Amino acid sequence: MKIAILGAAGRTGRLAVEYALASGHDVIAVGRQGATLGKHGRLSIVQGDATDRSIVEMAVTGADAVLSALGQTGKGHLICSTAIGHVLSLGVERIVTISGAGLDVPGDMKRPLDRLFGFLVKTLSSSAFNDKVAEFASLNRSASQWTVVRPPRLLDGSSGADIRVSLQRPLGTQIVRADLARFCIEAIEKGSYIRQAPFVSN
Ligand SMILES: NC(=O)c1ccc[n+]([C@@H]2O[C@H](COP(=O)([O-])OP(=O)(O)OC[C@H]3O[C@@H](n4cnc5c(N)ncnc54)[C@H](OP(=O)(O)O)[C@@H]3O)[C@@H](O)[C@H]2O)c1
Repeated sequence: MKIAILGAAGRTGRLAVEYALASGHDVIAVGRQGATLGKHGRLSIVQGDATDRSIVEMAVTGADAVLSALGQTGKGHLICSTAIGHVLSLGVERIVTISGAGLDVPGDMKRPLDRLFGFLVKTLSSSAFNDKVAEFASLNRSASQWTVVRPPRLLDGSSGADIRVSLQRPLGTQIVRADLARFCIEAIEKGSYIRQAPFVSN
């Protein structure tokens, strides 16, 4: 498959690029620091800002699927939702995004502790939280084949532990970025969790 990855220079994005290449896919990596992404025969790099429609268009044209591993590294911008708005407007059908366990989706059966965690995330990083809420709303309104992955706290380190998945509530409090990256690429490969927002954790 040809997979476009937004936020490819980020900590999870880089691991998704590596995993997708190792799995035999062609990857188009989008990042503001494209030069740091290295070289590979099946890797093309689009250097630029993912809120710029022309950059997104360059990246997703001809792609079978898009993974967004974008995250806010600055303040006050609707980065994830703006980029996904461009992806949707360009007619991409298969879209996987990384959101967070604090995001509420109809059908959730969160426990009070999960709700408290969501409230804290919303309060402490309202700009990033609202961006993820807007991203989900756009995807949910669209006819696309989206998957919104909801991890808890992200850790660095090597993968290996099982990935626990639930469509109702978080099952754990952390996940290693390498496992999150693998889960996202496998969801694209298998066409799984279509129009669903799985909670994932180790
Ligand atoms: N940290 C956690 O514990 C946690 C928990 C749950 C969910 N999440 C979510 O998981 C995802 C991955 O997190 P992470 O910590 O691996 O990510 P990260 O290392 O913070 O990487 C985010 C990437 O997004 C890029 N980016 C931001 N704005 C951009 C723009 N306008 N154009 C192009 N690229 C842009 C950044 O580029 P630059 O390097 O150029 O700034 C960076 O490479 C994020 O969506 C995050 O919100 C995180």
